[in-house]
Amino acid sequence: MSILKPLYSAYEWYISRDLRPEDMPKHVAITMDGNRRYARIQRNMSPLDGHKHGKNTLEDFLGWCVDLGIEIITVYAFSSKNFNRPQDEVQGLMKLFKENFEGIAKNKKIHKNEVRVKAVGQLDLLPEDVREAIDIAEASTASYNNMLLNIAIGYDGRLEIVDTIKKISGKVKEGKLDPEDINEEVVNENLYTAGLDDPNLIIRTSGEERFSGFLLWQASYSELYFCDSYWPAFRKVDFLRALRSYQQRERRFGV
Ligand code: IPE
Ligand code: MG
Repeated sequence: MSILKPLYSAYEWYISRDLRPEDMPKHVAITMDGNRRYARIQRNMSPLDGHKHGKNTLEDFLGWCVDLGIEIITVYAFSSKNFNRPQDEVQGLMKLFKENFEGIAKNKKIHKNEVRVKAVGQLDLLPEDVREAIDIAEASTASYNNMLLNIAIGYDGRLEIVDTIKKISGKVKEGKLDPEDINEEVVNENLYTAGLDDPNLIIRTSGEERFSGFLLWQASYSELYFCDSYWPAFRKVDFLRALRSYQQRERRFGV
């Protein structure tokens, strides 16, 4: 790999030349897929170690977004459906999430760049120690406004819409909201991602081309980009190519 480094730097430079800083997507969402397949093609690597490598990629990714001036990042870390995986994998992942949320509170990059961290999903499905770690991460970054990192955990877009409907109907029942006044904005404000700008670009790694319940409401006009790299092997050049592709597209919004 080290021998390839200068080549990658040259390639990064080559692609970056084509990027227009003023046309960067404000909000990039990413489905970090392929951790276990990455582990499988290494020698002697457990699926959990695949997930650990994926966590390192996320740290790198955050750094690239800082450098490129991307303001909002939403990452799909764990879906509600992932609870159906083998119990030892789920437990290993929960331990990893706990450690990583706790790590956020101490992470220099997060504080230096004033990144606000927020977990989005059905958090009540998570073990208590993970929820506590999330509280610590959110509280330690709550005052930041420079960047926002949403971590979708215990997340499923359909369940989010169901919960949104429940919230809105509760307001109607209490007489606080007239059904006639329900519009897209009201729905948007009652999502887990309340009030957030929709993602401009959604990336999925590992060659899979599915939503898998990610941001179903919010993705309505997003540009989609799929790449073959497994998430732990996702490099800056892959990201730059995604951004170049995004900038080359003509965004139409149905017009
Ligand atoms: C993504 O990688 C991480 C999670 C969904 C937790 P996977 O665990 O889905 O890895 P593959 O897709 O089986 O290779
Ligand atoms: Mg997968």
